[in-house]
Amino acid sequence: MTLLAIETSCDETAAAVVDGGGGLLSSVVASQAAAHAVHGGVVPELAARMHLERIAAVVEEALRPAGGWGAVEGIAVTRGPGLVGCLLVGTGYAQAAAAARGIPVVGVSHMVGHVWAARLARPDLEPPFVALVVSGGHTDLVHVRGPGEAELLGATRDDAVGEAFDKVARLLGLPYPGGPAIDRAATAGDPARYRLPRPVLPDFAFSFSGLKTAVRYLLDDRLAADPRGLQRPGLVADVAASFQAAAVDTLCLQLEAALEHTGAGRVVVVGGVASNRALRAAVARRCGALADVIIPAPEFCTDNAAMIGVAGGLEVARRGYDRDPIVVDPGLTAYS
Ligand code: KG4
Ligand code: ZN
Repeated sequence: MTLLAIETSCDETAAAVVDGGGGLLSSVVASQAAAHAVHGGVVPELAARMHLERIAAVVEEALRPAGGWGAVEGIAVTRGPGLVGCLLVGTGYAQAAAAARGIPVVGVSHMVGHVWAARLARPDLEPPFVALVVSGGHTDLVHVRGPGEAELLGATRDDAVGEAFDKVARLLGLPYPGGPAIDRAATAGDPARYRLPRPVLPDFAFSFSGLKTAVRYLLDDRLAADPRGLQRPGLVADVAASFQAAAVDTLCLQLEAALEHTGAGRVVVVGGVASNRALRAAVARRCGALADVIIPAPEFCTDNAAMIGVAGGLEVARRGYDRDPIVVDPGLTAYS
């Protein structure tokens, strides 16, 4: 079963081709980050329009090394969660292309896609495992018991961790997207310079808005003493490193608790924030003795279509293709 996969839920226009064995034949990601950077964040209308302009070329580029349309047996496409206009472009394109070529379509959850990106690192990965899903919109701990069978153990009560990285980067005057900018700035900083909160809530829940506010008060305090502080690399690097250390420690504390609670022998860390170098190293160090740790390559942690292809293949095996038109769901939360 060779699947074309399409992902347009936020600001990456992506297409990929996967084969029946879960092998990846191609993966193309056209990032819109530069277009949104001038606005300091994703502008939904602009994102949808850019998907519309780029999708055909991105799909053609993904198909070229994979044998063209003739090799495609079905299409997997993200149907949510995400920005409604963006989801409509991807699902509209997928269904029109499928109708024109007489092939079937399956709608896939972006979050299930993030989870199964782990198969791109470990093709024989099987449940049960615990997934820490950390992105711009989600901070979820999920116990995956089988394909289509997942229990949400805990989630953030306010900001997602990626959102906290983006907001703290903005406070520090770093460019959008903030996560990679903090990751880079932190390499020159002292993670122990400022002690920031590590909120550990019951029920594996997270809260990152207090951490972001603590950074704001810390900066207000520092800048009152030295108004030009943000122009000095030392302050930016130390705050970036201290914030990153607090965020990573918080994620690891809840992940360790979830591993103990479930007794799972495998853990996967996925979503855009899983490309963070400090998080990757900390999870490997802290959970490596408790469980088999699987973290996809950074390009499969941030949004991509290869993960939608892998999840789409599992979905088709479990319940077949969609018979009815795909309905986009911007607030889709289910992992199963
Ligand atoms: O999964 P993703 O690409 O899109 C969503 O589904 O949200 O995640 C994007 C998030 C953004 O908040 C971005 O700042 C963050 O992932 N991110 C990072 C890094 N790379 C991307 N956060 C920390 N360190 C990174 N290296
Ligand atoms: Zn995502």
